[in-house]
Amino acid sequence: MTSADIVAAKRPPSGIFARPESAFADSGQAHNEERPVLVIDLGGQYSQLIARRVREARVYSELVGHRLTAAEIARRKPAALILSGGPASVYAEGAPAVDEGLFALGVPTLGICYGMQLMARDLGGAVERTGVSEFGKTELETTESELFHHLPPEQTVWMSHRDSVTAPPSGAEVTASSPSTPIAAFEDRARRLYGVQFHPEVVHTPHGQEILKNFLYEVAGAPPTWTPAAVIEEQVERIRATVGRERVLCALSGGVDSAVAALLVHKAVGDYLTCVFVDHGLLRENEAEEVVETFSGHFRVPLVHVQAQERFLSRLAGVSDPEEKRKMVGEEFIRVFEEEAQQLGNVRFLVQGTLYSDVIESGGMDDGVAAKIKSHHNVGGLPADMRMELVEPLRLLFKDEVRRIGEELGLPERMVWRQPFPGPGLAIRIVGDVTAERLSILRRADAILLEEIRRADLYRDLWQSFAVLPAIRSVGVQGDERTYAYPVVIRAVTSEDAMTADWARLPYEVLEAVSSRVINEIPGVNRVVYDISSKPPATIEWE
Ligand code: XMP
Repeated sequence: MTSADIVAAKRPPSGIFARPESAFADSGQAHNEERPVLVIDLGGQYSQLIARRVREARVYSELVGHRLTAAEIARRKPAALILSGGPASVYAEGAPAVDEGLFALGVPTLGICYGMQLMARDLGGAVERTGVSEFGKTELETTESELFHHLPPEQTVWMSHRDSVTAPPSGAEVTASSPSTPIAAFEDRARRLYGVQFHPEVVHTPHGQEILKNFLYEVAGAPPTWTPAAVIEEQVERIRATVGRERVLCALSGGVDSAVAALLVHKAVGDYLTCVFVDHGLLRENEAEEVVETFSGHFRVPLVHVQAQERFLSRLAGVSDPEEKRKMVGEEFIRVFEEEAQQLGNVRFLVQGTLYSDVIESGGMDDGVAAKIKSHHNVGGLPADMRMELVEPLRLLFKDEVRRIGEELGLPERMVWRQPFPGPGLAIRIVGDVTAERLSILRRADAILLEEIRRADLYRDLWQSFAVLPAIRSVGVQGDERTYAYPVVIRAVTSEDAMTADWARLPYEVLEAVSSRVINEIPGVNRVVYDISSKPPATIEWE
């Protein structure tokens, strides 16, 4: 079995996370955000994907709500508009619509699926339920067109629709058809309005990205300048303008988001930034040393390394309930962080690694996602009376973009590609009491597992891979001695977003190497078991 087989089932479509060779090459031109491509969300399941595809073409894009008026849209000075797909029929009651004034702004506009049908309806064409639906791969025939420029006249595309456009908008020309849909694309070159019934954003439309690029580069004339270097330059400028010469604080967790956020702020304001790294003793092997070495040693970022292992361990003593553990670690973390903030004094800003997906999920996009820095906001878990203004340099970035920016900033590969790790750390991977002895068993088992996973070159294919220490013991025999010792559970999952996960089909050889090493190298362990539960019904973590 190869590593590809193991993750085939749950792997994100290639392309989303793939690194296009030329993407993010240095190009230098800043201020991408001044001419965004606005993706108007009409409720389709691929709206976010469209925004990401545009960014993969190195053009800055934002997802915005469909209720924005034409005047509000015009104020953003968009380079282009893309109307997303949507679940409804354009004639259904309460179906999402847009301000028709959009189409008179002279901004190049592409409607996809429902978006195309909306354009047809609003611009004098017709949309009907013809009784013919298309779901899945379809053969498309195209005519000479700006969107299909340089592409074969026949290509496979991916469709998902019940209604169809039966008459194009007045003045528009039909540029593609499929066996069941005579009007599969139209364009009005004079007014720069374009519609496609299929989904160019999904991987099942092999030429989809080229079609989007034709729209972005040739129709809209948007330059491919959204590169990590340009993003860094823009963010650094913005942070500098906001923060000035005030003190900034950042809590480093060891994960990629807080690390990249901290490095961006450090690049902008240097030693006005102080990072606080709370070592709660619940981290993986060598993790604390890596964080300290990277930030304090390599990047020379002022770092307060709080050694709070004893403190956390004594609070956790005798606590075996998972929720209690989580609560205690969270509360204690806040206490330690507050104490450090107070000692530093005069700190005005707090860095937070909020990502664009968090902003979208919390509905923050209807404002056009203009706010880069929100004031007086309570950060997840931090106390309400901690009145600091937030600096959120990742607020407009997707996770894969954060990783590429981390690489560009010189963050070590191990940190950039680190698998997610929960805030309460190893405390929620030890079932029952968390003691120094049990922590050291788990930490070693986890390190062995990760060594073997990396040796087999599987680390980046897995969403997470880790060890768990249950609260039971079982009988074994080692040498001629009977043993009564702990088992170690191995958990390795594939996932796209942690909402669902599948257990990874790890090769037997890897499992064998882990089992043999864990049992032979760690006193107190005599058995290794592999967790073959998916989420749902299990969760990824054990507690
Ligand atoms: P579950 O166990 O709910 O986990 O399937 C889903 C994802 O969330 C991570 N996780 C956490 N991350 N603080 C975090 O920062 C937490 O308290 C926490 N609990 C779970 C988990 O590792 C998985 O990726």
